[in-house]
This record gives sequence, structure tokens and C-alpha cells, in this order.
Amino acid sequence: MQIFGVDIGGSGIKGAPVDLDKGDLAEERFKVLTPHPATPDRVADGVREVVEHYGWSGPVGLTFPGVVTGGSTIRTAANVDKSWIDTNARTLFGDRLGGLPVTVVNDADAAGVAEMNFGAGQGRKGTVVLLTFGTGIGSALFVDGVLVPNTELGHLELHGHDAEKRASSKAREDGDLTWEHWAHRVQKYLAHVEMLFSPELFIIGGGVSRKAQKFLPHIEGIKAEIVPAQLQNNAGIVGAAMHAAQGH
Ligand code: BGC
Repeated sequence: MQIFGVDIGGSGIKGAPVDLDKGDLAEERFKVLTPHPATPDRVADGVREVVEHYGWSGPVGLTFPGVVTGGSTIRTAANVDKSWIDTNARTLFGDRLGGLPVTVVNDADAAGVAEMNFGAGQGRKGTVVLLTFGTGIGSALFVDGVLVPNTELGHLELHGHDAEKRASSKAREDGDLTWEHWAHRVQKYLAHVEMLFSPELFIIGGGVSRKAQKFLPHIEGIKAEIVPAQLQNNAGIVGAAMHAAQGH
């Protein structure tokens, strides 16, 4: 069975049909740049462009880089336009896609669900925390495989700063930090999350998961196992489609 997955990020809107049995993209993904400002209207246009690229006419699962409650209402918008707050995203995207059935879920939660089912978290019990390092820091918390949604651990305070402003992948690029310097910040962040939740496993997702060997060797003193995400940057697309398949 296939469902279309779309991952809306701070820099790109990516999508593809997803093979739900394999937990993988059924076709190569297509991406458009996230508009700036990333207003609901302009993002919805980008989503339509991605979906129309495939001539898709079935169900569509979408991620959003902020808190999503009740499967539709956007509550926060740290890295997109603030006019998203209180938007009914399900209605917005459904209308823009000509009435196709749509679901909306937080981007890190989607990536986490994909990794727990098809990637680095398969069969893992206990407390597992997936963190995505990109424009911001996203989090997905699992207890015995069950998701606790909208945890927003990227906004924990770290040395008086919003953690994602210090330790996201964007912070590394904007600050022109070496991998080692950035890894040091990530280590402090992981130590803080570990102090709060004592997870057995950290899964590191987002675009940096492809470059894990550049920074993971510099991270020390964390008791939990730390592994890169296996679906890498496709986890959000796959998780969005899985969420839609669950009939949310
Ligand atoms: C948002 C989260 C999101 C993360 C990654 C954060 O700024 O608050 O909801 O998961 O960025 O996109």
C-alpha cells in the first residue's frame, strides 16, 4: 500500500509516495524550497506543487515543524511564519489539495515513528529519544515504542539560551563552527536531556545523520547509546505517510 508523505521543514518541502510495507520511498523524492516568509498560504502552494508533481490523488500525510494538536491545530511556529499559530492545517492543506484526505503531525514525531518501526529504533523497549538536528531541534519521546507527542525538547533552556539556537545544525552553519565545537554543544544538550529522561537510546536524525562520523566520535560522557537515524532525511516523509495510514 502507498500513501503520499510530505515533510515541511525550515528549508525545504519534500515529498514522495511511500511504500508502507517497506517503510521506504516508492519513488525518488521531489523538493521545493520553503518560501520566505513561510506563511500558511505560501507553504500550502509549495505542498501542492510537490503533490501535483506526481499527479497524486490519494491520501496525503504531512509533517509540520511545530506543535500540532488534535491532528489539525498548529500551536507553535518557531521557524516558520507566526501566522501559522491557531491555523487549522488539516483544512488548509485539504482545501489546497482539492479535497484529498490529509493528516498533519509534528515533523520530529513523524521521523521518530518511522525510525522506531523501520530504522534505528526497531524493537527497542524502554525510553528512546529521537532528536532531529536541522533548522531547529525536534524531539520524539517513546516509552516501550509508544510515542509521547509534541515534546518540544529543542526548546529546553541550555546555558540561558533556547537549546536549538545553540545546538541545531543551522547554529553550526551560521556560527561557522567546526564539527568538534558543535559536537561539544550537542554533548551538553544530550547530557541535559539525559538528566531529565535517562533514555536507553538516543537516535540522532535530520540531515546531519548522514555525517554522523564527523561528530559522534567527539561526544563523550553520555550513558545512553547514541546512534544515527537509519532513514536519514527521509524519516519525516515515511513517518507522515505512516501517520496518515493509521487513520488520524
Ligand atoms: C519546533 C519543533 C520541530 C523542530 C524541528 C522546533 O523549532 O518547535 O516542533 O519539531 O523545530 O523542525
